[in-house]
Amino acid sequence: MIDYADVIVDLQQGDSGKGKIASLLASKGDYTHTVRYNGSNNAGHTIYLGEQKIVTHSIPVGVLHGIRSVIGPGCVLNVEHFFKELRTLKDIGIDADNLVKIASNVHIITSKHLEEDGTDTKVGTTRRGNGPAYRDKYDRKGIRASDVDKLRPYLIEMYDELYNEKGCRILFEGAQGFYLDVDWGDYPYVTSSHCTVGSAVMNGVPPQKIRKVYGAAKIYETYVGTKKFEPEDTVFQKIREAGNEYGSTTGRPRQCNWLNVDNLTKAVNVNGVTDLIISKVDVLRQIGVWRLYRGKNLETFSNENEMLNHLRETLPQIKIYWSDDPVGIGRSS
Ligand code: IMP
Ligand code: MG
Repeated sequence: MIDYADVIVDLQQGDSGKGKIASLLASKGDYTHTVRYNGSNNAGHTIYLGEQKIVTHSIPVGVLHGIRSVIGPGCVLNVEHFFKELRTLKDIGIDADNLVKIASNVHIITSKHLEEDGTDTKVGTTRRGNGPAYRDKYDRKGIRASDVDKLRPYLIEMYDELYNEKGCRILFEGAQGFYLDVDWGDYPYVTSSHCTVGSAVMNGVPPQKIRKVYGAAKIYETYVGTKKFEPEDTVFQKIREAGNEYGSTTGRPRQCNWLNVDNLTKAVNVNGVTDLIISKVDVLRQIGVWRLYRGKNLETFSNENEMLNHLRETLPQIKIYWSDDPVGIGRSS
């Protein structure tokens, strides 16, 4: 049975520090499980353990802390890439063979999906076959993890996993972000899965069991894909360099823009965020400009505290953490 579940959601266009938050929570919390609830190896979660930089793609970050880690039924999986990632984890001494589990009904990204996605020029996908795999899942043409012999040692039934044992305490780790969600994002410039707290619920947890919803956002915004996102202003090149805004999966430069506080509020509301973690504050500190959009108006603050106070006044009902990168979870309000 499930005691409770905490969920991490991204309130922007991905890359807002979910991996680092997951790692921190997993290291401090007493979770029995970490579960990825959407996406595939289109994601890249960068974590630092001491000086060591680790990037995970399909496997929940909780595995780094010895927690049983499940690739949930809402995900799609590239089998070859999964074994590569497993190898990388084993090479750094993690007991990944025992800790990592895959829901037997996870859909598989095939070489055909990869080939098809490889020719995408419309959306600017990560070319990992994610979209075609979800399409075939919903078209009832997909193949699933249970159809792949090699995966047998890792397979679980999600219901048995969460309901046959007593006292499951779950950390759900999402991928991508609210504005890449297939329903809430700027369609067609979206991914093919659901990136909200509802997506975690769809992986097998009743809504009453959700305890905390951690919302991840950066103090500025980034986006990778074909649409134009970055305004003409050289300050964004500075932000890109200072924030190292290059994709952890594809290496592509991320377009940057100021935080949009209305969009942030919308994502907070739809997800029922209880704790908001604003990261990369150190990047704006380095640039020395404190700015955000409210509607179409660009507002400038004279210092960091003024901007933080403004966000607190906008979102008085939630706890706001204000942090640098890597997320240490810093000051809270
Ligand atoms: P796909 O998920 O590979 O189909 O890509 C669809 C859109 O989502 C593209 O704009 C990608 O750049 C973006 N995207 C997918 N995964 C991530 C991610 O983990 N971080 C940031 N953007 C992503
Ligand atoms: Mg990422």
